Amino acid sequence: MRTVSTKSAICEAHSKLILVGEHAVVYGKPAIAIPFPLKVRVIIQKAVGPIMFESSIYTGPIDKIPAKMEGIKACIEETLRYANQPFENLRIRIDSDIPLGRGLGSSAAIAIAIVRSLFSLFEQKLSKEHLFSLVQIAETYAHGKPSGIDTVAEISEHPIWFQKEKEIVPLTIGRPLYIVVADTGRNGDTHTAVDNVRKRYASETAKVQNSLDEIARIVELAREAILNGDIYLLGDLLYRNQEELKILGVSDDELNHLIDIARNEGALGAKLTGGGLGGCMLALGKSLEHAEVIAKRLMDSGASNVWYFSTEENILYSPK
Ligand code: PMV
Repeated sequence: MRTVSTKSAICEAHSKLILVGEHAVVYGKPAIAIPFPLKVRVIIQKAVGPIMFESSIYTGPIDKIPAKMEGIKACIEETLRYANQPFENLRIRIDSDIPLGRGLGSSAAIAIAIVRSLFSLFEQKLSKEHLFSLVQIAETYAHGKPSGIDTVAEISEHPIWFQKEKEIVPLTIGRPLYIVVADTGRNGDTHTAVDNVRKRYASETAKVQNSLDEIARIVELAREAILNGDIYLLGDLLYRNQEELKILGVSDDELNHLIDIARNEGALGAKLTGGGLGGCMLALGKSLEHAEVIAKRLMDSGASNVWYFSTEENILYSPK
């Protein structure tokens, strides 16, 4: 009789916020992302038989995994092949606080926590580069041709400056940022949004190119504002970035509505975050107290969930 030890491993990953530069980053422009303290935990146990999944989306054997989780399956297959382990004898449980499909990078975070747990279970060393390439297998299923910003931002514990195929630069924040995140409650559709920008680029090249170039300028200025602690300039840049995202066609009425609410509450800046067409928006407050006021208003104005935090303490609050 075959025996399998009952060893287990638990690993976590955090989500991310794209502060400025989403979509343009797909075209090689820079973007800035910061860690967002919503987390996913993955527990992997050795257990005889086919690989079994337990999660809020799907519970059952891996060969019956739903199409939207195919990327996770491919990522596990490749990780096990690399670790020289059979594709069996595992029980994988996913506990995630990160809402799915809301531009917060849930798919990359799940894949990161799974790959980390598998390497920990098999007591093998995992470099950041290898973690990135394994997670990108899942991301390619989820997003088509991802820029890689989600994975890099979620592997990092610091804000990052990201540009495809260039060195990742950790950013220092000159003064704490007080950030509110509101969820429209509707799944964002990154795949469709990225596709729409591509189609628009083909039909209105000059206009879209202009927006992409403007976003790149905004991101450059945002880096300076972050380093210098100039939250007023940063806020203004967030609003300007949102105008360009509207031109690219990736915002929608509900996101625009929540952004207007934040502006009316005196937010220094606000924009959608992530792929758009649903999903989440973020706003910049003057202080933690101000962030709480904005958060309450967003909650009362139809957001399905709202969080706020300071980049200094990285603790997540919800409005009461
Ligand atoms: O996964 P999301 O929804 O946070 O979007 C990622 C950011 C995009 O720029 C829209 C796509 C990409 O691959 O960079």
